[in-house]
Amino acid sequence: VPQSDIDAVRAMAVQSPRVAIVLGSGLSGLADTADDSRSLSYTELEGFPDVGDVVGHAGRLVTGSFAGVPVLMFQGRVHQYQGSSAWEAAYPARLAAAIGCDTLIVTNAAGGISADLHTGDVVCITDHINLMGTNPLIGWPGPEGGNPFIPMRDAYDPGLRDVAKAAADEEGLTLVDGIYAGLLGPSYETPAEVAYLSSTGADVVGMSTVPEVIAARALGIRVLGFSLVTNVAAGEGLSHVEVLEAGRVAAESLTRLMIAILRRL
Ligand code: HPA
Repeated sequence: VPQSDIDAVRAMAVQSPRVAIVLGSGLSGLADTADDSRSLSYTELEGFPDVGDVVGHAGRLVTGSFAGVPVLMFQGRVHQYQGSSAWEAAYPARLAAAIGCDTLIVTNAAGGISADLHTGDVVCITDHINLMGTNPLIGWPGPEGGNPFIPMRDAYDPGLRDVAKAAADEEGLTLVDGIYAGLLGPSYETPAEVAYLSSTGADVVGMSTVPEVIAARALGIRVLGFSLVTNVAAGEGLSHVEVLEAGRVAAESLTRLMIAILRRL
């Protein structure tokens, strides 16, 4: 992580961020409701991979606070399907660690595999299956330190998941547990692939999150993750527009949930 990026965050943040939040497709809205918010474009960050724009991803870094908890928010992320490496895609986790955050909350839009899931459902990720064919710790460079052979048991912190459940109860929101399958994309899955994913125990499928979570664990950051089900995986009429629209509609409940969680941290 370039020192200039660390300096840029320190210069903009009113209080040093404790929690980093990655906002996925259509979920950027949370950042707009933060107190004392300030933002800059990813293009102003030296270390942020420059992969151009993807519709629905604002590409901004936002500092601010919720319920008095200082946060660092990433409005949009870099995906490997844009041509970046897993290491580059994990930049939000690396920057969060570099500025001293101890918690990373990742959100994503995902296709529902489990028949119990419907569009608009919010899933608390309990575990993932890395089917991206790569890993952010390949060639783990020295300066950022660390042993690449990191355990992935309880990568999605059980204590934080309990906090999320309590927060969801308080808000009257339904939060179901699920396993996230991370695929490279950018094409969506075939029906045969969805049947296969179902047999692996995956409940939702998406094209992100896995690199950030692995890097965060390697850097000693605890993780909480949510998938917003934007469509049925391999469903009829699936399009990026549908995914973004479903994200926007359900963003309100995820925003409420997030604030209730931060209040409890
Ligand atoms: N598959 C993969 N990624 C996704 C999907 C999907 O159905 N929906 C949103 N992101």
